[in-house]
Amino acid sequence: PAMFRRLGWLVLYSLAVLLLSCLLFLKKEAKPAGVPTARQPFWAPPGPRRSHCPPNHTVANASLSLPSRHRLFLTYRHCRNFSILLEPSGCAEDVFLLLAIKSQPGHVERRAAIRSTWGRVGDWAGGRQLKLVFLLGVAGPAPPAQLLAYESREFDDILQWDFTEDFFNLTLKELHLQRWAAAACPQAHFMLKGDDDVFVHVPNVLEFLDGWDPAQDLLVGDVIRQALPNRNTKVKYFIPPSMYRARHYPPYAGGGGYVMSRATVQHLRAAVEEAELFPIDDVFVGMCLRKLGVSPMHHAGFKTFGIRQPLDPLDPCLFRGLLLVHRLSPLEMWTMWALVTDEGLKCAAGPLSQ
Ligand SMILES: *[C@@H]1O[C@H](CO)[C@@H](O)[C@H](O)[C@H]1NC(C)=O
Ligand SMILES: *[C@@H]1O[C@H](CO)[C@@H](O)[C@H](O)[C@H]1NC(C)=O
Ligand SMILES: *[C@@H]1O[C@H](CO)[C@@H](O)[C@H](O)[C@H]1NC(C)=O
Ligand SMILES: *[C@@H]1O[C@H](CO)[C@@H](O)[C@H](O)[C@H]1NC(C)=O
Repeated sequence: PAMFRRLGWLVLYSLAVLLLSCLLFLKKEAKPAGVPTARQPFWAPPGPRRSHCPPNHTVANASLSLPSRHRLFLTYRHCRNFSILLEPSGCAEDVFLLLAIKSQPGHVERRAAIRSTWGRVGDWAGGRQLKLVFLLGVAGPAPPAQLLAYESREFDDILQWDFTEDFFNLTLKELHLQRWAAAACPQAHFMLKGDDDVFVHVPNVLEFLDGWDPAQDLLVGDVIRQALPNRNTKVKYFIPPSMYRARHYPPYAGGGGYVMSRATVQHLRAAVEEAELFPIDDVFVGMCLRKLGVSPMHHAGFKTFGIRQPLDPLDPCLFRGLLLVHRLSPLEMWTMWALVTDEGLKCAAGPLSQ
């Protein structure tokens, strides 16, 4: 029995040593050298998967006096090739309107609201083929990569690239959207590009587009002319003279939402590839249009600065001539949808106000 007791202790001892070394090993695994140990939620993705593009230190050193976001933009401005992380299947043969909506990984509710209101296909689109695509970059561990992968599987509308989600990286979204559309959806007659807080009155947009030939140049939206570059360093839109020297920006359509013909999308594609990136995406498109000799067209139905007076929900002509409204919360989006689909709110058909 004494021998058995000694054997028992030996087994116990070996088990303890094994357990301890396992623990030490796990601890080491969890902390690779040099990685800051920020608290990660349990569902965080395994690690960054960055497209490789080294910073330009000469530019970084030359822009020390600029705000850090501007420095970051300039330091990585030459990086223009990022891989696709998630992508929808291509467009149907007869797709009429591609709806390309700038979103962010965290805006799950906004996407849900769009999918179940104006982004719905069917009667609302009068039988026309629409293709809805959300444009995303990468933004930290939230929401979990699994959720985006689920959205992508379930709705087939997530187009995500491997660059950081940032206001100044919206131009990268423009460039990469152009490449994707040329490869996966070149047949679309028109493309609407907008933010994920817009309400699009799809039937009115389609009615307006009926009068246009996709082979002709067209970019229509809320056109801003003679805009002055903002020279106040404290403002989000600040642009130092070193980044843009001229007095005015070229005419451009407010980035909240505008519509382009297939011809203009194709022409823009080439211009965007050649242009040096500018941090404000709608101004950047304006610069490319100027190079192409295309003038953007103004339409009062694009309310990219929202609606100033409160809407009268009982006005049966509320939506007449309205193509797009910007800056709505998901609740307002749903309210608009309830009003639009209210059978009692039929306004006598009339020409859309231009
Ligand atoms: C960095 O930028 C400078 C100034 O624009 C340029 O002359 C240089 O070629 C760039 N270097 C690299 C490695 O891209
Ligand atoms: C940029 O500045 C840093 C720090 O002053 C210096 O070490 C580095 O060599 C500089 N790089 C270039 C490309 O000028
Ligand atoms: C991006 O890709 C294009 C074509 O593949 C190449 O010509 C260009 O040099 C690349 N740019 C960078 C910064 O990697
Ligand atoms: C844009 O994305 C690239 C790639 O993720 C990143 O290196 C860069 O810092 C981002 N730019 C800004 C202004 O955040």
